[in-house]
Amino acid sequence: MPTLNWLGKDKVVNFAAQVPCHALDFKYNFGGGTGNKIIHGDNLLALKSLLPLYEGRVKCIYIDPPYNTGNEGWVYNDNVNSPQIQKWLGQVVGREGEDYSRHDKWLCMMYPRLKLLKQLLSDDGAIFISIDDNEQNYLRDICEEIFGRQNFLAQVIWERAYAPVNLKKHFSTSHDYLICYAKNISQLVCHGLPRSNEADKRYKNPDNDPRGLWKASDLSVGPIVESKVYEITTPSGRKVFPPKGYCWRLDKETFQKYVEENKIWFGEDGDNVPSIKRFLSEVKQSVTPMTIWKYSEVGHSQDATKALKEIFDGQAVFTYPKPVDLIKRCLELYSDKNSIVLDAFAGSGTTAHAVLNLNAVDGGDRKFILVEMEPYAETITAERVRRIGGSFDYYEVGAPLFVEGDINPAVDIEQIRGYVWAMETRTPYVKPNVEDCAAFMGVDKGTAYYFYEGALDSDFLATMRTRADSYVIFAESCAVGEEFLRRYGIEFKKIPRDIVKIWVE
Ligand SMILES: C[S@@+](CC[C@H](N)C(=O)[O-])C[C@H]1O[C@@H](n2cnc3c(N)ncnc32)[C@H](O)[C@@H]1O
Repeated sequence: MPTLNWLGKDKVVNFAAQVPCHALDFKYNFGGGTGNKIIHGDNLLALKSLLPLYEGRVKCIYIDPPYNTGNEGWVYNDNVNSPQIQKWLGQVVGREGEDYSRHDKWLCMMYPRLKLLKQLLSDDGAIFISIDDNEQNYLRDICEEIFGRQNFLAQVIWERAYAPVNLKKHFSTSHDYLICYAKNISQLVCHGLPRSNEADKRYKNPDNDPRGLWKASDLSVGPIVESKVYEITTPSGRKVFPPKGYCWRLDKETFQKYVEENKIWFGEDGDNVPSIKRFLSEVKQSVTPMTIWKYSEVGHSQDATKALKEIFDGQAVFTYPKPVDLIKRCLELYSDKNSIVLDAFAGSGTTAHAVLNLNAVDGGDRKFILVEMEPYAETITAERVRRIGGSFDYYEVGAPLFVEGDINPAVDIEQIRGYVWAMETRTPYVKPNVEDCAAFMGVDKGTAYYFYEGALDSDFLATMRTRADSYVIFAESCAVGEEFLRRYGIEFKKIPRDIVKIWVE
């Protein structure tokens, strides 16, 4: 398969694996609910740090990365020249990066982040990426490489503008794209879109059929099949044939069966050309999405700006937010009621808004995880969720958990325990409140977990209080024989060797 090359690619293709997991420092809860997260920090670090708990569990990802328009004057930098990204590039590719074109830099920025997003995606999950013509061709190329060509779903065109900008010399671009990939297309189910009321309104029941509402559909079809051209006599006695060049959709025998089952309609007076009754109860309850999403269905850019302004008392706090209905549609197609939804370029928090709206419509309990690196993660992203009545936990990306292969002494040991617990059980860590030694972390599926910065010996074993089917004990060394461990169902895991995981795909 042809692959895209760019300056710095060799430095970033395997970079995601080298990114250390960082502490996600809990700052506060808003609204009391649990499960939703807003994380302030660079998404590269945040995504890596989410892996212990969320690897392979995110059902739907929506991202709206900077389009790389060259515009640096927005509320965020729509270029790869934001100070954080410049600094990051300098660290990863060195000084030579200063000579890279903005496209090279953008690709260097995106590649490792997409790799981590893929790792977070569940096998039956899907990712949507908003983009425009500045980078869409390059983005497609790296997505083919990361997600696999076979997992390509669509390149949706979103009609983002409703009127031309006459100042433009050639074309006034009125669309963006949404590039969509499955993690594994064979496991992905598309829920389709809800049927519109308009479509349902076309169904009536003029003959009070006990099977309910139905719609008359044409009995004639082309091209002609000779055996299906035959005379039909209507109840009023009129003889009818299909129009010239057409035949009936049903052969004579099936037509007769349909008549007996009252599935053929000859009109109120029994004198019309026959049609087939299609019952609403038999049609698919969802509509397969098409690849052009019109503003009349999902909103346009100005709608989104206006709606956000209303939330912020008339103030324009963010440039070019996406319409809530645009992201809601992505979630309708590929999320379930209990799905985890992730947006790692959160901006004004539209994805959280879409999750909350969709939950309100279908009674779902989807959770969102948002990552935003700019300081407005608190003042705009979180503030929007507060204003629309959502709840969340707010985190800052903290210090790396490990330094040079050992536990970072600057990190609170509870963070390390949380990381180890998540890695082992894939559930969030809650400090236990039971009678046991300080090393006890909890019980999951019959196994008790201990994390002890010392030697696993008989003195330590004497401090354990919890009775479980089996035990996993993290300790710096083990002074107990293998036979003893086996007999009591104890597994010893060495600190730091068995906790410093690279999380390679
Ligand atoms: C195009 S905006 C997203 C707008 C969003 N979809 C909305 O509707 O408001 C991109 C956002 O990604 C953020 N961003 C860019 N690079 C990032 C990174 N490395 N980590 C986290 N956020 C980043 C920018 O600060 C900006 O807020």
